[in-house]
Amino acid sequence: MSQERSDTLVLFGATGDLAHKKIFPALYAMVAKGTLNEPVIGVAFDPWDLAKLQARARDGIVNALGSIDDKIFARLASLLRYVSGDYRAPATFEKLKTALGGAERPLHYLAVPPAMFEVVVQGLEQSGAAQGARLMVEKPFGHDLQSARWLNRVLHLVFDEKSIFRIDHYLGKEAIQNLLYFRFANSFLEPIWNRNYVESVQITMAEDFGVEGRGRFYDEVGCIRDVIENHLLNILLLLAMEPPVGRSADDLIDEKVQVLRAIRTLTRDDVVRGQFDGYLNEPGVAPNSPVETFAAVRFFVDTWRWQDVPFFIRAGKSLPVHATEVIVQLKRPPLDVFDPIKPGDCNHVRFRIDPQVAISIGARRKAPGDDMVGEQVELTALDDSKGDMPPYERLIGDAMNGNGQLFTRQDASELAWRIVGPVLGDTTPPPVYAPKTWGPAEAMAGFGPPNGWINPAK
Ligand code: BG6
Repeated sequence: MSQERSDTLVLFGATGDLAHKKIFPALYAMVAKGTLNEPVIGVAFDPWDLAKLQARARDGIVNALGSIDDKIFARLASLLRYVSGDYRAPATFEKLKTALGGAERPLHYLAVPPAMFEVVVQGLEQSGAAQGARLMVEKPFGHDLQSARWLNRVLHLVFDEKSIFRIDHYLGKEAIQNLLYFRFANSFLEPIWNRNYVESVQITMAEDFGVEGRGRFYDEVGCIRDVIENHLLNILLLLAMEPPVGRSADDLIDEKVQVLRAIRTLTRDDVVRGQFDGYLNEPGVAPNSPVETFAAVRFFVDTWRWQDVPFFIRAGKSLPVHATEVIVQLKRPPLDVFDPIKPGDCNHVRFRIDPQVAISIGARRKAPGDDMVGEQVELTALDDSKGDMPPYERLIGDAMNGNGQLFTRQDASELAWRIVGPVLGDTTPPPVYAPKTWGPAEAMAGFGPPNGWINPAK
């Protein structure tokens, strides 16, 4: 596959939720910036016509952005086409082939459940629509190691690895890009970024809402599969990896894979699970479902740099705030020269990922007054995130340009499932926690970084 830009975007699942909420707003932003001029063919089962798809796209854009520029939308609407039909029917792919016209390098974007990947990929191949094409697939990529391997085999029957783009939308976030940049464009971190100075690392992804009508989907995955195995593990990799030797996609991914290879496979002792009170009443959730809506997990990275440094990840629904944050906690000075420093005080680096983007250095300074007594302060570089490129815009653009740097390679997808494998599918009912609290308090007692969890502020 050459690096030539894709000449058509084919969106499977065009009438679905993801397209409505995220993909059409991203396409609109691309049209506004002049970075999307290619036809966009929506494909879905619903017997809609083009006008209905355009109206749905418009609605999604207005919902996401609050307003719409009619001229820009008219340009997007003129790029849209619609093909309706059953993914299992060859006739659907014949219609798609006709709609593709003379396109030579389409990008097929599968915003459909993974159970449909095989049938769509086969339809593409049999109709000739896979010829010269790229394939972008949504998460979840499988539900365990075995199913991820199977999916990879299915995709590889038709597409080579360089033409496959597995999405983790977290990798498209500005703050995540910044984390990588900050680590490797500065030299002051490097001497301390290891087991000699770092005491622990904690990553918290807190959401102050429940499953928002996605009960059926969520009850099949749970917190570990939904956000830990992918989004948050990816953050851990960027924190723990060695500097890439070059700027190519593989240079970066190779270093992430080295970390994945060094992460210990989890055991049940590495995990605390919880379920928010009220989850069982959500539509689509099984009665007595043992699925976790909260999980705290301890990882170890067995490398020269990180041996014995615990990396904790905590994520959940119905927590007190909506925020994602990383704290790299440094060890305390060897001696209290002035006032006694409380464990947990002292130096840290905080990366705020969501909702704002910020990087802070936590330090002690002398509190004003007569005594040599200190106080904690933070030096913060804050970005209000206005004008940041949303992840879907960045990722669709990258996939159309054949740039795989922000996508998950086959080996990485399988290694991540290897790590979490033993803690998936636990059928023991998890302890219940009250909504708007930090998970199941009793089960969490004593489980966490040596100096405790630091709860992100609103
Ligand atoms: C999705 C999960 O992948 O990420 C959701 O399925 C979660 O459960 C979402 O809410 C969080 O993404 P973001 O970009 O809103 O932080």
